[in-house]
Amino acid sequence: MNKLRVLVLMHEALVPPDSLDGYTESQILDFKSEYDVVQALKRMGHDVLPLGVSDELSPIRRAIVEWQPAIAFNLLEEFHGVGVYDHHVVSFLELMRQPYTGCNPRGLLLAHDKSLAKKILTYHRIHTPRFFVVPMGRVTRRPKSIQFPLLVKSVSEEASLGITDASIVADDAALAKRVTAVHEELRTDAIVEAYIPGREFYLGICGNRRLTTFPIWEMRFTKAPEGRPQIATARVKWDHAYQQELGVKTEAAKNLSDELTAKIHNICKRVYRALSLNGYARVDMRLSEQGEVFVLEANPNPNLSRGEDFAESARQAGLDYRALLRRIIRLGLAYPAEWRRV
Ligand SMILES: Nc1ncnc2c1ncn2[C@@H]1O[C@H](COP(=O)(O)OP(=O)(O)O)[C@@H](O)[C@H]1O
Ligand SMILES: [Mg+2]
Repeated sequence: MNKLRVLVLMHEALVPPDSLDGYTESQILDFKSEYDVVQALKRMGHDVLPLGVSDELSPIRRAIVEWQPAIAFNLLEEFHGVGVYDHHVVSFLELMRQPYTGCNPRGLLLAHDKSLAKKILTYHRIHTPRFFVVPMGRVTRRPKSIQFPLLVKSVSEEASLGITDASIVADDAALAKRVTAVHEELRTDAIVEAYIPGREFYLGICGNRRLTTFPIWEMRFTKAPEGRPQIATARVKWDHAYQQELGVKTEAAKNLSDELTAKIHNICKRVYRALSLNGYARVDMRLSEQGEVFVLEANPNPNLSRGEDFAESARQAGLDYRALLRRIIRLGLAYPAEWRRV
């Protein structure tokens, strides 16, 4: 790949230093994906401009007009502190006729609304846990047809924000309490789903039209006490000591029949297409005890840190980190945005 001008868009607070010397593990965790991407792009020989963004579009506009990047590498997950505003920034890039990496605005909008995404998947006969939404300011009314145990989460937050062991509820009182916690702490609507016990899988996908899937990844608790609910709470995802205590491991899923493996790859590609995703994404699933695959959610632009599920599963598929970033950039350059048709 030729040397390119790459504008890396990221949250203002996450612009990484040039070296990790002197930073603690938890500080590094905050800006790890930004650091990994910027360093790798530099080592690949690209001309890299990291740009911190918080609540102003004008710096993005200025960088595009004055520096004329070949591609904007999009690591933004929010604008103005609002997660669901990320697609507006991508829309702005399209209006500027700026090629960018990752997902298009429509895919971001659909996938980041868990309720809307599940409605679309249901239309396509893709299994996803039964659910209902409790909007902010409304009281919880459980439809009779939806039975306990249930799992309560935010309709739009990511990264397991707000998910704790108490998110699994077994009666109406606990349900109402948890919904209130989501409303008050996360300030978003709550989505209440049938809780699916069973194995948890992730599948990385990249592509615009032709899709490549990576090996199925599984999160396992190798040391959790018997009977403990095994879900990816925020603590399980982000607290290193806690992960060690519970023996949390994510690695290629073992002991899956060829038939089930093919089925999972197929379902995930259908999810990707149904939600208009492009670039790269990861689909989260659960395999019920009856052997049924339930899609929990799709994550456009998943975490790109080295060593994280997405990059690790790509590596197992033969794409090392640089090859993965190269693929993501190529897909961004090739994406047939509307403006190219005019
Ligand atoms: N319906 C469900 N049944 C079982 N576990 C669930 C369910 N929904 C979410 N979880 C658990 O919570 C985690 C986070 O939920 P997810 O929908 O993937 O949201 P996030 O966007 O925060 O990753 C999942 O990885 C899974 O462990
Ligand atoms: Mg998830």
